[in-house]
Amino acid sequence: MSGPVFTRTRTSETPAGGTQTGGTRTREYAEQLIRGRRATRAFRPEPVPEDVVRAVFSLAGAAPSNSNAQPWRIEIVGGARRDRLADALRTAHTERRVTADYPYSEDMYAPVHQERRAAFGAGLYGALGIGPDDHPARAAYDAESLGFYGAPHAAFLFVTGDGGPRLAADAGAYLQTLLLAMTAYSVASCPQGLLSFYADTVRDELRVAEGKLLVGISFGYADEKALVNQVATDRAALAATTTFHS
Ligand SMILES: Cc1cc2nc3c(=O)[nH]c(=O)nc-3n(C[C@H](O)[C@H](O)[C@H](O)COP(=O)(O)O)c2cc1C
Repeated sequence: MSGPVFTRTRTSETPAGGTQTGGTRTREYAEQLIRGRRATRAFRPEPVPEDVVRAVFSLAGAAPSNSNAQPWRIEIVGGARRDRLADALRTAHTERRVTADYPYSEDMYAPVHQERRAAFGAGLYGALGIGPDDHPARAAYDAESLGFYGAPHAAFLFVTGDGGPRLAADAGAYLQTLLLAMTAYSVASCPQGLLSFYADTVRDELRVAEGKLLVGISFGYADEKALVNQVATDRAALAATTTFHS
């Protein structure tokens, strides 16, 4: 087990008495942490020790939210419960029992988004040896991913309150904080929107009474030998997404 690479406690660069972090070391940590995170799609079977899981989710709870409302609820599965849920999700998929709390449509994407998605798909499915027009093979791989890509754990992020877009933005902040906390503890992860397509199945299996399911997160230790984990994604240039006004 390796410890966190970044904490919110004082560092040598922190002014005495302050809680602000900054300075060279923090920047190096941030580069390492943020750029070091990646979506992992093949895991080793051994579970993450419980104290590490607790530390990670405790750290994730430091995420910001509007007025500090923290409108989220997280359900975490491992062991036999994880296996039962994976079976239930695959069955729901086979029986086409799609119940998404947040509607999905291809139309929500602009042409530039579609281009980026296509480039990502080519890289991912290419690494798996699946051709661009082999839609059945792509669909089979996606269905298989309902088994959490073999990860020993999965977490489900529900948005509480009315579950509307403003509160979902808070949950988005939680999601990234969680992914970075996992990275800091050498825990690999894959956020999976697909898992949210079967919200009623998750709710029924885990007896969740409250909230809208935004996303699931598979996590565990990465299978470093798996080719699919070598897939690299790039990002749009700064100027393509960001304008500086003065
Ligand atoms: C909200 C959200 C939903 C995602 N859903 C899926 C998914 O259903 N299946 C999957 O394999 N990856 C999923 N991903 C992972 C993205 O494909 C991945 O983050 C993106 O391609 C960038 O790659 P990187 O995370 O390795 O930097 C999702 C990521 C996010 C943030």
